[in-house]
Amino acid sequence: MTAFDPAASRAHLVEAGQAHLVEHAATLSETEAERFLAHAAAQPWAALAKAAQSESSSPATSLRPPQGLTWKRQQAQGGVRGRLAEMGQAFLAGGRVATILLAGGQGTRLGHPGPKGTYVFGPEPDRTLFKILGERIAAAGRRAGRAVPYYVLVSPATEAATREAFEEAPSWGLDPAQIHFVVQGQLPAVDDAGRGLLAAPGELAMAPDGHGGLWPALVNAGVLDELAAAGIDALTTFQVDNPLGRPLDPVMLGWMVERKAQIVSKGVAKATPDERVGVLARDISGRHRIVEYTELPDDVPESVNLGSIAVHAFGVRFLKDLFDGGYEMPLHRAHKKVAHLDAAGALVKPTEPNAWKLERFLFDIFPEADRFEVHEVKRTWEFAPVKNAEGTDSPATSRLLVDAEVRRWHTERKLPLPDPVSLHPLEVDGAEAYL
Ligand code: UD1
Repeated sequence: MTAFDPAASRAHLVEAGQAHLVEHAATLSETEAERFLAHAAAQPWAALAKAAQSESSSPATSLRPPQGLTWKRQQAQGGVRGRLAEMGQAFLAGGRVATILLAGGQGTRLGHPGPKGTYVFGPEPDRTLFKILGERIAAAGRRAGRAVPYYVLVSPATEAATREAFEEAPSWGLDPAQIHFVVQGQLPAVDDAGRGLLAAPGELAMAPDGHGGLWPALVNAGVLDELAAAGIDALTTFQVDNPLGRPLDPVMLGWMVERKAQIVSKGVAKATPDERVGVLARDISGRHRIVEYTELPDDVPESVNLGSIAVHAFGVRFLKDLFDGGYEMPLHRAHKKVAHLDAAGALVKPTEPNAWKLERFLFDIFPEADRFEVHEVKRTWEFAPVKNAEGTDSPATSRLLVDAEVRRWHTERKLPLPDPVSLHPLEVDGAEAYL
């Protein structure tokens, strides 16, 4: 490693428009100043300023529907689901699949302190979102005859509490050896001019770099190489806020194998045109992408109606080639209230958004795939989002959806309903037991 050079760091920061940080460093003790300068000089200021000043990073024009396995086809061709499920199940049994849970976000919108996964969904008092999803991964492993490597993406804000919650994982049926934590990074919040803010003396105001921080985190921790070396071909991703999420769905995996797809992404018909979900579409150049609801243009045709439920499968080879090739992820901006020190060193707590937080979205790599497929699924089977404390997409609406799904599963299989009606993985024959 090259020795830290404070003079070079200062010059670099001035050139990057961060002269105020150099001035701030001069007010710190020598050791603190060195630590601060080293940290500040390592930030991608040019990219941050550019993203803070541009409205959208996705050129989402002339959108049209995506290609893939429609729900209509799955219904019309009786055997298609069973055939794909068999292929997917063999893929799982061959140890070719790992999965990663996105759990770096906090339960702010939900009004829950701490990681969202620690939210008690119920009905049992220990039934957290982490437990529900953990049991699902454990059950998929039992059916496959081998434990599926289970990665968990955390952020500096959620890591400690998530690790603590996962001490219960053996009681969910998981082997601690199959669980791995990956920590996503952070990026500085900046003002309109792209200048970094100070959270405290010697400390930049930082924010999580978004779930797209998953990719740099996996690359830096050597996980993609590890997966490839272990003969794992597919990495699936899912979110902590959907108790019906099925990241190891054999049908999705079978579709991936059959199509030799580099990416498969699950979609459902949107409930309403303004539903707050990303939209799966092809853009003007024929590439697939998710256009986030916050960035959707006004002229979207009605036929572009497939909402993302944020369950995706990625080919490990594709990921390795992409990142070995030096691919850089775009940044999206969000205007937020960020507490900071003013020029006199006093703490300001703004009442209006005053700064830009920059995030990466994991699906921004979609357009890089030459072989992309969607897998349309039935909404009520797989999507029960828990986003807000009340109203739409709240625990109350999610519980109703989960309740209905549990009833469907048991009724279709002529099994007695559990009491209370609760989402446990079902151990029954057939390819799709709540997986
Ligand atoms: C997300 C998707 C949207 C999709 C919808 C389905 C994004 C940007 N949007 O919307 O396309 O239709 O879910 O429910 O993903 N997370 C991290 N680290 C972070 C930020 C978030 O791990 O820095 C995790 C969260 O823990 C959560 C997931 O990412 O599991 C989604 O984050 P959130 O910001 O809540 O996305 P939504 O706006 O709900």
